[in-house]
Order: sequence, then C-alpha cells, then structure tokens
Amino acid sequence: MQSLLFALSASAVLAAPTIGKRADIKCPIVFDGRVPTSFAANASKFDTSATNTIFNADFVKGNNLTWSGILEFPNVTKSRFDTADHTAVEVTIDDRSIFQKQNGFRRAGLQFLNDTPDGPGQTGVKTLHFSVKQNPSRPLNLTHEYLNVWHERADFAGNQIQFQYGTLIGKSDSDKNDFKILDQSNKQLYAKAADPTQWQNFALKLDYNENMVTIYYSLGDAPLKQVANATSAPLAGGGQYQIGMLKKPTGTSDVANAGFQESPLDESQIYGGIFLEDSANNCVSL
Ligand SMILES: *[C@@H]1O[C@H](CO)[C@@H](O)[C@H](O)[C@H]1NC(C)=O
Ligand SMILES: *[C@@H]1O[C@H](CO)[C@@H](O)[C@H](O)[C@H]1NC(C)=O
Ligand SMILES: *[C@@H]1O[C@H](CO)[C@@H](O)[C@H](O)[C@H]1NC(C)=O
Ligand SMILES: *[C@@H]1O[C@H](CO)[C@@H](O)[C@H](O)[C@H]1NC(C)=O
Ligand SMILES: *[C@@H]1O[C@H](CO)[C@@H](O)[C@H](O)[C@H]1NC(C)=O
Repeated sequence: MQSLLFALSASAVLAAPTIGKRADIKCPIVFDGRVPTSFAANASKFDTSATNTIFNADFVKGNNLTWSGILEFPNVTKSRFDTADHTAVEVTIDDRSIFQKQNGFRRAGLQFLNDTPDGPGQTGVKTLHFSVKQNPSRPLNLTHEYLNVWHERADFAGNQIQFQYGTLIGKSDSDKNDFKILDQSNKQLYAKAADPTQWQNFALKLDYNENMVTIYYSLGDAPLKQVANATSAPLAGGGQYQIGMLKKPTGTSDVANAGFQESPLDESQIYGGIFLEDSANNCVSL
C-alpha cells in the first residue's frame, strides 16, 4: 500500500509539467493588458476608443494603420499568467509603421488604456509583467537596435526603464541575441539570451518611492525568480508604459527621423501575460 501511494504521488509530480503550469496573479492588478480571446475573435474592437477597453486605440502606431491590421493572435501555448480566456498577441511592423513624421523608426507600441503620465502607474511600488516569444517566420534583424518594452518619461526626453533587443547603437554586437534591461542612462541591469522557441517571462518591480528596480525572470512555465537584486535607478518624471516594437535605423545619429531601414519589412514580437500589479507590501506574482 505504502509503495503504491509512493508510486502514485511520484507519477503525479512527473506528470504535472505536461499539463502546463499557469499561475494566478496574486497582487492587485493596476492595468490589465492581457488580451481576451473575444478581442482576438473580432480584432476591430482594438480600433476605436468606444470598444478598446484594454489599450489606447489611437497610439502609438503607423499613420493610417489600425490595430486590427497590426496585431495578430498566434495559436501558441498560453503564457504563464494568461488564462483560458486570454490569448497571445503578436505585434507586427512593416514599411508603413511610421508614426507621425518619425521616418527613422518603424514602430507599434501598446499603451495601457488608463495609464496617464501622472497616474497610478507612476507612484508607489508597481511590477510590470510581460512574456515574450519569437515567431521564427518573422525574425528580427539583430543588426538593428530594438526597444520592445519601456517606460517613457512624461517629457519624452528619456525612458526610465528599457527592455531591448539587437545591437545597441554605438555598442558591440556581441550581445545582439540578448534581451537587455537598461536604466535611463543605458546602464545594463540584466541580460538574458532570447530563446527561439519558448516563452520568456519577465517582471520589473519599479519602486517609485525609493528609485529602485528589481528584476524577475523565468523560462516557459517555470515560476519567476529574482534574477537581479534591487538596484538604484532614477524613476522620477512620470510617463507611460509602452509594449511592442520600436526598430531604430542604422547609419544615422538622428534615429527618429533619418537613417536606413530595409524594405520590405515584416517583423514581429509575440507577447502574453501583460499586466501591471501593485507591489505594495512587496507582493510580486511569481
Ligand atoms: C466586431 O466588433 C465591432 C466593434 O465592437 C462591432 O461593431 C462588430 O459588430 C463586431 N463584429 C462581429 C462579427 O461581432
Ligand atoms: C494617411 O492618410 C492621409 C489622408 O488620407 C494621407 O494624406 C496621408 O498621405 C496618409 N499617410 C500615409 C503615411 O500613408
Ligand atoms: C491550435 O493549435 C492546437 C495545437 O497544435 C490545435 O489542436 C488547434 O486545432 C489549433 N487551433 C486553431 C484554431 O488553429
Ligand atoms: C539587416 O540590417 C542591416 C543593417 O541595416 C542590413 O544591411 C541588412 O541587409 C539587413 N538584413 C536583412 C536580412 O534584411
Ligand atoms: C543578491 O544579493 C545577495 C546578497 O548580497 C547575493 O547573495 C545574491 O546572489 C544576489 N542575487 C542576485 C540575483 O544577484
């Protein structure tokens, strides 16, 4: 009897990973950017402020483009914090991804609907969660510098935290396959090689009171682990989060307006489990 029980529990432990280990969010959600499957079924819901209850319908995207044309919903396993009612979302860029007159960039960035420059996203202690996955049929050109997830200052003069990919302009390309998390002065806080097939889960705990950043990471379905201790980083200046793709050009110092971009362009980054949680009392969903 004893050995039978042992055998049963051992096989249960071994079987667990195959069913996928989702995790519940355990802290209060400030902004929920997880994409409901009902939106994937009718992507035109993203296109107007009357129906887009998740993100800003109007920003930040190519002139004349609609979110329903920019976003795709790949049939991939769900990321760690997405439920049965959520889907992965693929942010695409192409030759038309020119915002206003920024001819140097190709960009498409999601902003949480209720995130305002002096709002609750910019006070207290908040943790930004996102998972990333690569689409092998839309590879990025890692000769270029990409900004994928960031918090831009209200005066647009800098980004307090930056999650980047590719070759950072003016730097060696030896780490081009790494995701790099940088502070406002481009000091690297953490780096992790991009995985070609699995979800990679990141969380950035931003302590706006103490100006400290703590980074958490896991691969696939694994629980997040703290991978960088709290580090001093200036977070003042308000602003907004942005999640998507911003591809910088090569061959210019005026990156917003000039430089080289290959054409035709067809690239993407897949996201899942996007949300901002309240980490007062040190609560972080792992
Ligand atoms: C899709 O959503 C739009 C915007 O809410 C709505 O007008 C339209 O009727 C919906 N289409 C379907 C097929 O549900
Ligand atoms: C966007 O549409 C406007 C009005 O139709 C047009 O004047 C403009 O050239 C278009 N911009 C782009 C980048 O296609
Ligand atoms: C999504 O992928 C799963 C697993 O590969 C497959 O069983 C399912 O039919 C796919 N669904 C769609 C809508 O393609
Ligand atoms: C990648 O970018 C570099 C620099 O802009 C360019 O020379 C090269 O042709 C691009 N590669 C592809 C496959 O487009
Ligand atoms: C955090 O700091 C502690 C104490 O100095 C150290 O033992 C630990 O390795 C650090 N953790 C990380 C992820 O750097």
